[in-house]
This record gives sequence, structure tokens and C-alpha cells, in this order.
Amino acid sequence: MSGFTDGNGTGLAPGEIVVDHASRAFSIRADRGGTLKELLLRRRSAGPAPIQALDDVSLRITPGQTVGIVGRNGAGKSSTLKVLAGIVPLDSGSVTIGGRIVSLLELGAGFGRDFSGRENILLGGALHGLNRPEIEARMDDIIAFSELGDFIDVPVKTYSSGMYVRLGFAISAHLDADVLLIDEVLAVGDEAFQRKCEAQIARQVAAGATLVLVSHDAALIERTCERVVVLDGGTVVFDGDSGPGMAYYHHQMGTPVEAAPATASAPASAPTGTPDP
Ligand SMILES: Nc1ncnc2c1ncn2[C@@H]1O[C@H](COP(=O)(O)OP(=O)(O)OP(=O)(O)O)[C@@H](O)[C@H]1O
Ligand SMILES: [Mg+2]
Repeated sequence: MSGFTDGNGTGLAPGEIVVDHASRAFSIRADRGGTLKELLLRRRSAGPAPIQALDDVSLRITPGQTVGIVGRNGAGKSSTLKVLAGIVPLDSGSVTIGGRIVSLLELGAGFGRDFSGRENILLGGALHGLNRPEIEARMDDIIAFSELGDFIDVPVKTYSSGMYVRLGFAISAHLDADVLLIDEVLAVGDEAFQRKCEAQIARQVAAGATLVLVSHDAALIERTCERVVVLDGGTVVFDGDSGPGMAYYHHQMGTPVEAAPATASAPASAPTGTPDP
């Protein structure tokens, strides 16, 4: 679930992100099996067109900035974070990030399922470039933060979704991130843990970390992010302050004005803010 890249040598300041005309398409196949005749007939058809998950996305994020990425399902939010995390390669364009990247993306990704929570802390720390004494020095804090109790010594394959997030967040919170990439996963934690994570993210931001947060929780984005990027069909349709950004998003979603949070007073006719050219 968590990842780490040391982006030193990029020529950028720690926490700086430059995405330059980034594009990435996915081809999709329908693996339905079927009879030999069906397979032969299908081979002759062209198949579905590739999906353009990211379509010429350019972003420049300064160190310490807090950026929320929002948009409808399939808009390209997770793909953007995976590209930033270096998990998904680009077809064209480039992504350059200064400093240490710590990511919390898919639930359970990056864990050894047969290893205990404690072993995964060792494994994760090593994968993230920490040596054994550095990991050992943080072990107690990580375990305490996770509040996993005795579960820390059982294989993580027995964990609930929330327990995966607890372990993943506890590890990533102790990796001294310059850039923190978080995709939705926090929503899986219970209310108390979500509050604790939010406070921890705020501490990391106060210490100078850059935050890129994907969430469908509008209130969380408004509390946490100064800047909002709205994606649609893999392209940036809005990039600006979070107030107008969330108004744009609510308008796009057709959210009634009275149902939208107070700061996001979307006009009835046209979205506020400046759509990205
Ligand atoms: N590995 C993949 N293989 C094929 N298509 C993919 C893959 N990953 C993403 N896509 C496609 O790329 C598009 C963008 O997906 P992405 O996961 O980035 O959306 P999202 O904005 O995160 O959506 P959601 O709000 O549902 O999480 C979607 O159409 C999706 O089907
Ligand atoms: Mg997603």
C-alpha cells in the first residue's frame, strides 16, 4: 500500500512536482472465455478502443502545497497518483518529483500477505530505503500509531480493510515524506482513526510536506487542500483554489447548491473558477 522513491538528483526542490504533457492509455480486453467459435469470431473484431486514462496532463506543484484531485468515477485520479508514484509508466510526457515520495494507494498493495504486521514494517522500511537500525528506532511508534494491538504479530492476510489502512498509514507517517500521495484509502478507517490520520497529515504538511490527495469526500478536500484539480476523461478541466474548484466539481456532479458544503456555493448556470486552458 505504501511506496517510497528517493527523487534526489532531479534538479527539483524536495516536494516539488512537475508533470509535463503526461499521457497514458490502457487497452481493455473482455476475457470471457467461451467456445472456440466465439473466440475465433471475437479475434476478427477490432475490440474496444484503448481508454485514455491520462490525456495530456500538465501540473506544476510547489513544495508544501496541498492539492486535492477530484472528479467523477473513471476520471483518471488514481491513474494520476500511480503515475506520480512511479507505479504506472507514461506513454508520453514526463513526471519529475523532488525528494522522497511516500504513497498510500491501493488497499493492501505492497504488503507480504503471509507476513505479520511487524514483519511488514521491517519489509516496508527496507523497501523504502531505511536501514535496520532506522526501522527498529521507529518500530514502537509505528505500532503504537497503528493501534493494532496483538494483531501486529499475525499475518496481514487476516486483517480487515481498516487494519490494512492502519498499518499502511502508520508506516507511511514515519517515513519523512517530502511528497505524500494518498488515494481514498483513509475512508476505510473508522471515524477515530480518520481523525488521527487527518491530524497526522496536517503535521506532515506543517513540517513542509507536499500533499496530493484523491478523495470523493468533499469536506475532507476542503479542510485539507488549498488547491483543487478537477479531472474529467483524463484531462484537467479545472485547476485553482479549492473553494471555486469544489464549486466546479459540485456543479459538474449536479449537486444541488443547498446540499453542497457552505464554501462550495456553485452557481446554477456556470461553474466558477478558471477552467484549465
Ligand atoms: N490497469 C488498467 N487497465 C485498464 N484500464 C484501466 C486501468 N487502470 C485504469 N484504467 C481505466 O482508466 C480510467 C481511469 O481510471 P482511474 O482508476 O484513474 O479512475 P478514478 O478517477 O480513480 O476513478 P474512481 O473515482 O472510480 O476511483 C478508467 O476508465 C479505467 O477503466
Ligand atoms: Mg480511483
